Amino acid sequence: MKKIVLAYSGGLDTSCAIKWLGDQGYEVVCFIADLGQKEDFDAIEERAKAAGAVKVYTKDLQEEFIEYFIIPSLKASAVYEGGYFLATALGRPLIAKYLVEIAHKEKASAVAHGCTGKGNDQVRLEVTTAILDSKLEIVAPLRQWEFKSRDEEIEYALAHNIPIDVTKKKPYSIDRNIWGVSIEAGVLEDLEREPPEDAYLMTKSPTHATTYPKYLEVYFEKGIPKKIDGRAYKLRTLIEQLNELGGLYGIGRSDLVENRLVGIKSREIYEAPAAVILHTAHRELESLVLDRELAHFKQGISLKYAELIYNGLWYSPLKSALDAFINITQKRVTGTIKLKLFKGSCVAVSRQSAYSLYKKELSTYGKEDEFDQRLAQGFIKIWGMPYQR
Ligand code: ARG
Repeated sequence: MKKIVLAYSGGLDTSCAIKWLGDQGYEVVCFIADLGQKEDFDAIEERAKAAGAVKVYTKDLQEEFIEYFIIPSLKASAVYEGGYFLATALGRPLIAKYLVEIAHKEKASAVAHGCTGKGNDQVRLEVTTAILDSKLEIVAPLRQWEFKSRDEEIEYALAHNIPIDVTKKKPYSIDRNIWGVSIEAGVLEDLEREPPEDAYLMTKSPTHATTYPKYLEVYFEKGIPKKIDGRAYKLRTLIEQLNELGGLYGIGRSDLVENRLVGIKSREIYEAPAAVILHTAHRELESLVLDRELAHFKQGISLKYAELIYNGLWYSPLKSALDAFINITQKRVTGTIKLKLFKGSCVAVSRQSAYSLYKKELSTYGKEDEFDQRLAQGFIKIWGMPYQR
């Protein structure tokens, strides 16, 4: 019998996929990736088995996700189209890596996922799988099967005793991990509507957030966050704490009409409190320690880096080459940024670094000024010379 490894979430789609793949003649092994989505993984494992999985692997991948995916994206200042910190997109290559690994271990000939044929995630999972082992067959039940609606899937599940939670009405499609949550579908598809408050999971509404500000110091070493308010934390704890705190102050929401790789524009809302706090602090620190040429050049790299993540090219030669560049830029990104969180805004109020290139004696308008203003005249003459008529 052919064996297949399915990336399993515990939801309706992938639960039906277990049975459906079985009907296509596969023995189904499920893989559940814990990327910090805060679910009852024992219950999900049980559900997979009840739906017909012959074996279930559950792996806590959070540490690996943070160290090898989130942190590089933070160093790179990777943000897609100005408001998406790429939580979902960053998780996919890691999930694919383990699909391939488990397929090898189980001597399976195929892998499967529960993505639709309209999104970016199918691309990310399949491109990564093919990069890591092009011989593996890839099956995407949702692109092939006969069900035309969620109701038909529910009927199928009930008819085959696939355990599902039909009582829970599901107004949105949600993907969550430790770096943030992506929320789409339902009323969000109507661009003229403000997202309803009940769509948000991690953040308080800025309108109802605490009415006094919170000050917070983040210390970075070579571009990596190490301390909050002077106390050292493991990255996982640090991110969890910032999600919690940022959420209370209404930090981290965004509402985007974005360009999908498959050519569709779609509306999605995001919540990423820790990501917003850390990206803000990191950017502020860079503005202190990177010289103009490097800073401006890096902006272009950041855009490219975000695009590579979004478009599923994490394991590409260009991505490795950009990492080498970015790591050099981070050598001096060490220092402390104090932020003020208040009703959805997150701004720097104090900046410190031993590598700071800011020289008060040059920028001051006070009497300590050491900048020789007489030199400016000649500089301007030569600078503008090529353009004179
Ligand atoms: N638009 C985001 C991306 O392409 C998230 C996709 C998944 N979103 C979801 N709600 N299931 O990365």
